[in-house]
Amino acid sequence: MTITRRRFLEQAGVFATGLLLTETGSAMAHMEAAMSDTVLGPGELTPFVDALPLPPVAKSTGTRANPERKDEQIPYYRIAMREMHVKVHRDLPATRVWGFNDSSPGPVFETRSGEPLLVEWANELPLKHFLPIDYTLHGAGKDVPEVRSVVHLHGGRTPPESDGYPEDWFVPGKSAVNFYPNRQDATALFYHDHAMGINRLNVYAGLQGMFLIRDAVEDALNLPSGKYEVPLVIYDRFLRKDGQLEYPVSPIPGKPWVPEVFGNVVLVNGKAMPYLEVEPRKYRLRILNGSNARFYRLAFEDEHEFHVIGSDQGLLESPVALQRLQLAPAERADVIVDFSKYAGKRMQLASDSLPVMQFRVTTQGAPDTSVLPAKLRAVERIKEKAAVKTRLLTLDEHLNLADQSMDMMLNNTPWHAPITEKPVIDTTEIWEFVNLTEDTHPIHIHLVRFQILDRQRIDTNAFFDSRSLEFIGDVEPASGIETGWKDTVRADAGTLTRIIVPFKGYTGRYVWHCHLLEHEDNEMMRPYEILATEPQKQAND
Ligand code: C2O
Ligand code: CU
Repeated sequence: MTITRRRFLEQAGVFATGLLLTETGSAMAHMEAAMSDTVLGPGELTPFVDALPLPPVAKSTGTRANPERKDEQIPYYRIAMREMHVKVHRDLPATRVWGFNDSSPGPVFETRSGEPLLVEWANELPLKHFLPIDYTLHGAGKDVPEVRSVVHLHGGRTPPESDGYPEDWFVPGKSAVNFYPNRQDATALFYHDHAMGINRLNVYAGLQGMFLIRDAVEDALNLPSGKYEVPLVIYDRFLRKDGQLEYPVSPIPGKPWVPEVFGNVVLVNGKAMPYLEVEPRKYRLRILNGSNARFYRLAFEDEHEFHVIGSDQGLLESPVALQRLQLAPAERADVIVDFSKYAGKRMQLASDSLPVMQFRVTTQGAPDTSVLPAKLRAVERIKEKAAVKTRLLTLDEHLNLADQSMDMMLNNTPWHAPITEKPVIDTTEIWEFVNLTEDTHPIHIHLVRFQILDRQRIDTNAFFDSRSLEFIGDVEPASGIETGWKDTVRADAGTLTRIIVPFKGYTGRYVWHCHLLEHEDNEMMRPYEILATEPQKQAND
């Protein structure tokens, strides 16, 4: 039997005390029932009292042989995951978080396309986790060590053995050396923990950071740079009055997992609702939604227009003017904001009514010689006829009445079932996501970049009854900022979302999954494999 998440949550009593409308428009749980009264109340923290911190730039610690060409030395970074205590707000005691090289978010990597590097990710975390593990989730049982980690470079064209496969986790005292060839266009990538069954907790604890790749096309554009280019890693957290992170738990005994977490405070680069002093000129903001589950609709309070010049996988063909930017978890946006008309003013950036940060525009600054180019980079749209295969893949949610647990799956298939998606290297496929649930799921495929074709609403009941696609709305082709190269796509509720994917780079085993981290940890993730050649037709094919 199929039952919706809302119904499940109501039965479980998770949201007895009120609903919060999320930016996706779906009614979601404000999980007060399951939370202690020590959580900060709305408006309890004064916004915009702390300056925006900038994560340090990662520094290589030496060189090592290039795994692809032993006669060449390439930069080697050692980045350690450690527990630390940081002030996230002026009026709160220091918060326990996990970071990379004593920074959360971790250091920003400054790299160049075509210039490979090695990163040793070292796990120097404590032996006990400080957030509520659900031991009933696949891969998170009592038979494995509590603290484990593996780092994935989201959006990276990375060989499989360096991609951070969820089961390749390692424990405190161990490390893994990953090779990042960087053979891809300039963009902002996202590195974060990916450990099976506890990824949501590790990222919530702070294990995430930004990884920038630059190239000659970007260099030639004369975009705002140096101190006029600012990374913004945005994520929400539940903060308690004592400054500590609260991760909500379900009321079901022994099964603390909850379907989503929406925090009470937005942090940017590790500070709650910070401010940034800017000059009256153009800035380039590299925005990453590092939240477990929250979607943002970022806008300035006076609806000031800004320009998006890039998305997940790099520059758009030309800038897109917007007053409101929607960002799903793990999506990135490269944004140019012109503050020149705002000298002496303060501008708030918010997501609906939720304050994110404030810009304080000074009255004077150095002359602005940067430009907002009309053309950025050629992005050739892939023709549908280039696809050799089309896969119809469902996004599903089910309640198991016996034990009240909730399954979220891709194509109704759990993680550990044999691999079903096996594209052939250097071929192109269309993946069609049929979202049979009541929520938007941001779907991410490792290794590849893809283009969004279109979306169309469907009658989900018709699909449940007969697996037939009955459309109830018009086809909405990708437009605006969704016409660039992507690695994460919003699959909206009751909608068929179609993407076209050239499988390039490496053969081997990767994963694709929902990037709501609570879903990903609870079976909404599948391995896939890129094959070298078309497999022999199976007898039962
Ligand atoms: Cu951002 Cu599989 O990850
Ligand atoms: Cu999901």
